[in-house]
Amino acid sequence: MIVKLLLDGKREGKELAPEDIRELVAGYTRGDVPDYQMAAFAMAVCCKGMTDAEMLALTEAMRDSGECLSWRDLPSPTADKHSTGGVGDKLSLVVQPLAAACGLAVPSLTGRGLGLTGGTADKMESIPGYVAGLSLADYRKVVSECGCSLTVQTGEIAPADKKLYALRDVTGTVPSIPLIVASILSKKLAEGAETLVFDVKCGTGAFMQARPEAVSLARALVAGARGAGRKAAALVTAMDEPLGFTVGNALEVQEALEVLKGRSGAHDVANLSVELAAWMVSLAKGMPLDEARDVCRARLADGSALKRFACMVRLHGGDLAAFEKRQGDGAIPLARGRAVSLSSGYVASIDAGKVAQAAFELGAGRGQSSDSIDPSAGVRLLVAHGDRVSAGQAVAELCSSMRPDRLDAAVKLVESAVSVSAMAPAPKPLVLEVVQ
Ligand code: URA
Repeated sequence: MIVKLLLDGKREGKELAPEDIRELVAGYTRGDVPDYQMAAFAMAVCCKGMTDAEMLALTEAMRDSGECLSWRDLPSPTADKHSTGGVGDKLSLVVQPLAAACGLAVPSLTGRGLGLTGGTADKMESIPGYVAGLSLADYRKVVSECGCSLTVQTGEIAPADKKLYALRDVTGTVPSIPLIVASILSKKLAEGAETLVFDVKCGTGAFMQARPEAVSLARALVAGARGAGRKAAALVTAMDEPLGFTVGNALEVQEALEVLKGRSGAHDVANLSVELAAWMVSLAKGMPLDEARDVCRARLADGSALKRFACMVRLHGGDLAAFEKRQGDGAIPLARGRAVSLSSGYVASIDAGKVAQAAFELGAGRGQSSDSIDPSAGVRLLVAHGDRVSAGQAVAELCSSMRPDRLDAAVKLVESAVSVSAMAPAPKPLVLEVVQ
């Protein structure tokens, strides 16, 4: 394969042969194809798109650039959920143990966050002692023993994607559906779950802000996963407002724990977790969706999901009792602020993007991969969509241990995020569309 000819073809909109795509990716992973040619390829894909066959070839080539896990030795069906990422999105902390409590094995490699808020691994690491960076062998042991493990993705999985994603980040080539699908799916396919459920977030706090693009991404992810022989579905879900009341790593773990204990007022987190877990159970076990929903609600209510979560934390070295004690007794010295409502009426919207920016100001996210995160920083909302508020009433508490100097700016951001209307707003649906 001559890379220049392949680039000429893509520039002119010709369909590339799967074997040429495979060779290109293998050459790039080895270091034989230089960054400048791969960047030209990514830009040509952004401009000309890809056919389904090309996208599948790219996905499979990136999957095969590293290790592909198999779970055939486990007695349970395997399933995983992938979210495209949102503000206050602590769903994996509930969904993964809940699906495990319903009899699935849930191998779930996850990420650290780069951007406004922490990733699932950052959230879990706010539990004292929790080690998210397990070896693949230890990860396998944890999944076998308690049915789920939230482990940070290792370099052995889809290394071509790691390299290409870093290149896309600096060459303006992230927003391309075929490249996004190949990136997400290559990792998920390599992780080996037989069933994949995608939570494609849509709104101001999401990667995909407009619904048509979110639906296109959902369709492409499902088609790609099916093309690679997996069972798959995608839920396009609302991300104009934060999920639950908390944004920030330890705050989100605490909220997820409350949901697992059945004590949280964050009904959106509980309901969406049940819905996603039900899709996993339904597809993986061939069970009608309504029946799967009933099973999931029952396993959440009877404490089975909480037990799986506690087991996973223990096997990862974490100390849940110490976490809860620390959250309860305020042992960490924090600078605290309060955001208030600027007018009276009903909460019409809470801009997820602005709340995420506030959490970032406080230290909950990282601008560069080398930055450290403040696990205890974040925003706790005191009101929800549709609540009645008066001018001057507190709508959120903010805290930070590393950036007290940014507290005032963060308070202003949260105050501007909460819009108040004279009339009570209509309730908003959480699930906008289902793609099967
Ligand atoms: N998430 C990924 O893993 N890859 C992308 O390309 C975009 C979001």
